[in-house]
Amino acid sequence: MLTEKEIHDVPETQLDMSRLPQHIAIIMDGNGRWAQARGMERAAGHVEGVTTVRRITEECSRLGIGYLTLYAFSTENWNRPQAEVDALMHLIATAIERETPDLIKNNVRLRVIGDRSRMPADTLARLERCVRDTSGGSGLTLVLAISYSSRWEITDAARRIAAEAAAGRLDPASITDDTVARNLATAFMPDPDLLIRTGGDMRVSNFLLWQIAYSEIYITDIYWPDFNAYDLRRAISDYQSRQRRFGLTGEQVQ
Ligand code: IPE
Ligand code: IPE
Ligand code: MG
Repeated sequence: MLTEKEIHDVPETQLDMSRLPQHIAIIMDGNGRWAQARGMERAAGHVEGVTTVRRITEECSRLGIGYLTLYAFSTENWNRPQAEVDALMHLIATAIERETPDLIKNNVRLRVIGDRSRMPADTLARLERCVRDTSGGSGLTLVLAISYSSRWEITDAARRIAAEAAAGRLDPASITDDTVARNLATAFMPDPDLLIRTGGDMRVSNFLLWQIAYSEIYITDIYWPDFNAYDLRRAISDYQSRQRRFGLTGEQVQ
């Protein structure tokens, strides 16, 4: 582990501030393993993970990143033991309540994507209050993916597009990929430039499947509670070393 001083000694000069990713998405994984490695309950890892959310949100804000999307709870996570689900929902609600004043102070705007119909009323109410109270923020947009899965989102979009067509308001022949994108929960933001996964697993676990078509992927073994500002800058630096070709040849994009 780096000390606070060492973290701040990793200079931004490593980064090209004119080529920062506009949107960073993170699969925050490894809370349970972090706790278990210390002989603690999994829930303790989730509590520690909230500290990392704060740290990484602050760093993204400071760097001037436009959008930060955090995968906090997946559709499949509803199938975990009820006690863990309850602990996570409670943790989300209390963290949001506690952090709202600082989000406002730091000019952060909160958005939530996911299936609201499955969230406990109290958690949903606090999230929606925070979204409303931070709606004037003109800095970082922090997007929490809660009760979210890409297949839920795409299915939901398909249902709405089909309803429009059935009502005669939309010609199926006129549907383009833009029609689909506009019906996704993420319609208000650009696709992620950089997708980070902590905890070392090389998979996307039903996260932003449509939107990451051309995202640069960065996977680190570090567990989410240990992930810090230095690690984030390292991921961004790695991102900046890549040539994004979008299907073209290297010569074409140079
Ligand atoms: C990620 O940590 C947080 C959530 C999925 C809510 P995990 O709880 O999945 O931690 P591991 O992967 O079991 O270590
Ligand atoms: C992905 O982590 C979901 C979140 C980080 C919220 P999981 O721990 O649920 O993913 P799998 O089960 O290892 O694929
Ligand atoms: Mg996990």
